[in-house]
This record gives sequence, structure tokens and C-alpha cells, in this order.
Amino acid sequence: MHTRSPRADQRPFDTSHFRQALGQFATGVTVITTRLADGSFRGLTASSFNSVSLDPPLVLWSLATTANSMAIFTGNSHYVINVLSADQAHLAKQFATRGIDPWENTEYELSRTGQPILKGASAWFECHNRSRYPEGDHVIFVGEVELCEFSPSPPLIFHSGQFGSLG
Ligand SMILES: Cc1cc2nc3c(=O)[nH]c(=O)nc-3n(C[C@H](O)[C@H](O)[C@H](O)COP(=O)(O)O)c2cc1C
Repeated sequence: MHTRSPRADQRPFDTSHFRQALGQFATGVTVITTRLADGSFRGLTASSFNSVSLDPPLVLWSLATTANSMAIFTGNSHYVINVLSADQAHLAKQFATRGIDPWENTEYELSRTGQPILKGASAWFECHNRSRYPEGDHVIFVGEVELCEFSPSPPLIFHSGQFGSLG
């Protein structure tokens, strides 16, 4: 159901205040990766990952409409959601920085469908690109998990704009 949002100049808070409130919700950090038709790879850091359904196994994440990779993630049939380990904050920064090659010195292996899986990730989910829902300035992607794996490495945490770890 859609409700009409109040106009920006009528809301009792601004975007910065909203961001700060959202920052109190501690999350893990993922890098979403996929392979292009020419064999090159694409990836970006995303903390918007969450679970949706156990049966069928569905997950979601959201991508800004301004992202350079929007056309790629809209068009590709598969992607991998890599949950970063506590010692992979450098990858979170690399894959959130435009104008550099985040794959340089990044170790990965290939999934069954040829998607890059980051070495050392705490968990990964290979997803079929099932559906997409444009909302506001993001598009919500729902992925159907075809394969997943996890390791005992503790996860990277993102909270209040800072990277950290549990404990
Ligand atoms: C911790 C963290 C979490 C992020 N989460 C998201 C996210 O969930 N969705 C999104 O669109 N961008 C997110 N970003 C920003 C993108 O990683 C960044 O804008 C990236 O450069 C986009 O790449 P592209 O424009 O080449 O597609 C996040 C950045 C950081 C550092």
C-alpha cells in the first residue's frame, strides 16, 4: 500500500537527521558482486542487505538510483552477496569508492555461474535476480538464494558511520 509522503519542506526532520537516526541501526556489511558479459567483474558495498523468506529462500538489498552499476544489476541474472569479515573493512571502503579498480589485489574465486566470491568472506549467497521494486531514490532487489556458505570468521559491523567488530 502506498501512502502520500509529506513534502520535504513540511517534514519535521531533514535528511541528515534521518541518516543519523538510521545510523543507530547496526548492520553487517556486504559487497555485492557480479560478472559482465565481457568477463569483467562489478561490485559495490551495501549495508542494506536483509533476509526476506526462508522457504523459498529470499533476501533483499537496495541500490541507489544514482548508482553507476544500476543497469548491470538490473540486467544480470545472478549476483553474489558477500558478507564481509571483521578484517575486511578495507574491501568495504574499496568497493564504495568510485574511480579506482576495487578488484586490484582483491582475492576471489568463481561460483558455479561464474560470479566472483570474495575470499575470506564471513558468508556468501549466490542469488538469482528474482525481482526489483523501485521505491524513492532506491530500487529494492529481491534475490532467490541458489547456494550459500558461511565460515566461523566474525562479521564486520557498520554503526553510526563507523566500521567495527563485535565485542
Ligand atoms: C558501509 C557502506 C554501505 C553502503 N550501502 C549501500 C547500499 O546499501 N546501497 C547503495 O546503493 N549504496 C551503498 N553504499 C554506497 C555504494 O557502495 C557506493 O556509492 C558505490 O560507489 C556505488 O558504486 P557504483 O556507483 O559504481 O555502482 C554504501 C557504502 C558504504 C561505505
